[in-house]
Amino acid sequence: MRHTKVKDLLNSTTTLQEVNAKGWVRTFRNNQFIALNDGSTINNIQCVVDFENTADQILKRITTGAAVSVTGTLVESKGSGQKYEIQVAKLEILGDSDPEKFPMQPKKHSLEFLRENAHLRVRTNAFGAIMRIRSVLSFAVHSYFQQKGFVYVNTPIITGADAEGAGEMFQVTSLPLDNMPKNEEGNIDYKKDFFGKHTNLTVSGQLEGETFAMALGQIYTFGPTFRAENSNTSRHLAEFWMIEPEVAFNDLDNNMDLAEDFIQYVIKYALDNCGDDLKFLEGRLLEEEKSKPQTERSEMTLLEKLNFVLENNFKRVSYTEAIDILRESTPNKKKKFSYIIKEWGADLQSEHERYLVEKHFKCPVILFDYPANIKAFYMRLNEDGKTVRAMDILFPGIGEIVGGSQREERFDVLVEKMKVLGIDEKELSWYLDTRRFGSATHSGFGLGFERLVLFVTGMSNIRDVIPFPRTPMNAEF
Ligand code: 4AD
Ligand code: MG
Repeated sequence: MRHTKVKDLLNSTTTLQEVNAKGWVRTFRNNQFIALNDGSTINNIQCVVDFENTADQILKRITTGAAVSVTGTLVESKGSGQKYEIQVAKLEILGDSDPEKFPMQPKKHSLEFLRENAHLRVRTNAFGAIMRIRSVLSFAVHSYFQQKGFVYVNTPIITGADAEGAGEMFQVTSLPLDNMPKNEEGNIDYKKDFFGKHTNLTVSGQLEGETFAMALGQIYTFGPTFRAENSNTSRHLAEFWMIEPEVAFNDLDNNMDLAEDFIQYVIKYALDNCGDDLKFLEGRLLEEEKSKPQTERSEMTLLEKLNFVLENNFKRVSYTEAIDILRESTPNKKKKFSYIIKEWGADLQSEHERYLVEKHFKCPVILFDYPANIKAFYMRLNEDGKTVRAMDILFPGIGEIVGGSQREERFDVLVEKMKVLGIDEKELSWYLDTRRFGSATHSGFGLGFERLVLFVTGMSNIRDVIPFPRTPMNAEF
């Protein structure tokens, strides 16, 4: 008999039929009630075992984590909490799970403990919910862009280009470490390490994406990106997924409109399709909040927060206006920030971003027109000669979720900027062809997928929203 998914059993419209379910035991109460989960939904199906007619040897093997197959009749449940249950006629143990050794006990584990068991943590309710939501969100990303006629582009993972110019790249080598080419001083010559050429893992697919946008009009990438920054924060990963749309003939305002519409679409998609999982995570957060002092508790529940983002426009503020707000909120005597903004031109620290989003505007904020010297080389210089058409989207509880810009389309201005920054024109000649031949206004942005999943699930550490987190501290899998 073919097994039916627990989700389908729980949504069944008829009862009294013979069914088979396969899954893993979450709990086994009173030698009688199995809570069975198969990953198709956060909800378990209760399976009622006829313990009087079941051998003790079998009952003993119904332990948390064991894989079982149950065959029986789907009936309306007499107990509260579930609509249906299975009256078990035949029970088979498919795979034992020694309760003395199985690390996932039927109790609440700390997130730190679970992180060390990333291959098993997905067997918990919270991680099952997070990973299902992550999957639905990635589908929503494709659904949004495909409906709008964007072309999905796979940009290279191994690349010679440092798109962000931040030098935070993992080197790629095709040679055994003890056989690396050496320069005259006898040091490893990294310039020749990938079949004679220097390469890295990509930090962003943007530059390659731009070449496609300048032919196909509207494109997006969605793939893994890598940053060798030594940031051990709850917002940074060494390997994360980024979505990067790029659109020919879009200016910065169009770019903001696209980013806002896109983010609202995917959040709505999750609300419409992940109801049970979101409700579970909301409940989990409410429990967590109870242990916090009243003043630190969130004013909104998870679902209220998600709906708030859908119902309110993102506030658009220039960098210069933001600096004025921050200066005003930081009177000389009362030090609100550990790092006080004095000079126009400084980069914002996360505490400034949090102040703007969480205290001042109390909604998502799009900051634009940043000083040129704190942003990447490819951004369009404004007429004032000192700011660029950059935009960052800041989210409550997250900080920067999107970074993007209108691109510098003028060949001469771009080449001049590259010269100043010491970026090799020859290395990026292919990129400059977009400006040599048929150049035009174009814009794009990058959304950090894990930061989006963080926001939607209400989790607080980025390591908890990616299946196998890679950070400077944690890459054992
Ligand atoms: O702001 P970033 O560095 O922008 C770019 O890479 C541009 N090339 C994007 C573009 O215009 N096409 O990164 C974009 C986003 C950030 O806003 C953040 O959400 C995420 O990527 N991000 C990270 N997420 C997790 N861990 C990290 N170490 C991240 N670094 C950036
Ligand atoms: Mg950025």
